[in-house]
Amino acid sequence: MEEYKSRDFLVKVPQEIFFGKGTIALLPEKLVRFHVILLVTGKHFALSCEYAQLIASLEKNGHIVKSVTGIRGEGPIEDVDRIIMEARNCSADAVVAIGGGSVIDCGKAAAALIPLGGTCREYFSGEKTVPGKGLYFAALPTTSGTGAECTCNSVLADGETFVKKSLRHPSMTPDLAIVDPLLTVSCPPDLTAASGLDAFVQSFECVTNPKSSSYSESLCYKAMSLIARNLKKAYLEPENIEARCAMAEASLLTGMAFAATGLGAIHGLAHPIGALLHVPHGAACAALIPSVVKWNLSCCEEKYAEMAEVCKFGKTGKDFLHGAVALAESCGVKAHFRDYGLKEKHFDFIVKNCRSASMKGNPRSMSDDEVIALLETLL
Ligand SMILES: [Fe+2]
Repeated sequence: MEEYKSRDFLVKVPQEIFFGKGTIALLPEKLVRFHVILLVTGKHFALSCEYAQLIASLEKNGHIVKSVTGIRGEGPIEDVDRIIMEARNCSADAVVAIGGGSVIDCGKAAAALIPLGGTCREYFSGEKTVPGKGLYFAALPTTSGTGAECTCNSVLADGETFVKKSLRHPSMTPDLAIVDPLLTVSCPPDLTAASGLDAFVQSFECVTNPKSSSYSESLCYKAMSLIARNLKKAYLEPENIEARCAMAEASLLTGMAFAATGLGAIHGLAHPIGALLHVPHGAACAALIPSVVKWNLSCCEEKYAEMAEVCKFGKTGKDFLHGAVALAESCGVKAHFRDYGLKEKHFDFIVKNCRSASMKGNPRSMSDDEVIALLETLL
């Protein structure tokens, strides 16, 4: 067990967080003071009974309800602009995003920008900056993995330049997060696996981040233990409610933790590679586990060993590495970037676009040449 060292921390979470089966029913009473509510979701959830029931209950309470549906994966900035335009047209005074990480991130960015002038592209490019609080924003995840319901950033992608990065402001943390595990039951197995691995990677990158603290570590150790025991079950038995609850809870705990801490090189590299080669985020994270954990082993042996014990993978840093790879394989994720067409010609773009806050939070720094050496192992 690591020796106690006092480390400062700042907790940044939504003002209200509800976790539990059926908690989506609490949403209408939380929105009572708003007149026009804009719902944002993906194409599948828009067709669900839960979505129809939610609209009906809001309309019954006297709200005008508008919808923007079909939000795509990986947070396209064009989708954020679509939400902004609809919100300005209908004078929405609250935004509710129900979906996976991209839906929540697009809704979150839009809520911040709706009262301002201009388009998302102007803020994404850095031409303009987010000055402060936008519209009231509620987030309801339908996947267990991203933790986007807790964080103050939106990971967005520009389809023209392939740049993927965060739009960020402390006021962008959602006002309300409702994590209802029953919303994740219809999540397909491959997305269940990829999102769960994203949560797993976020937990261990949070622990090895230099800003990690007793607060974030206690959340992450619990999250990792839940994921190690329940991800395969949730993948193989989609209707297993206890496994779905465990994964939803783990994802929430991870989001609360890394909102206060940050991540590491897996996320630093997954963003440019994912944006360039259209690799789903969870699969990109899983593919980077072996090379990045090997790189970090020399400076994080003790932490990885402790995580190996928490996950019941064994007792050493290497046990953690093998256990994490086996966990990914046990739920069918065997992502290799060569399957997505990674070539040497992509390295310059990846090196130029990997220097994010996540990369800076990696416990062992990587020079450009070292990033290239790591990428060569992925070919
Ligand atoms: Fe992630």
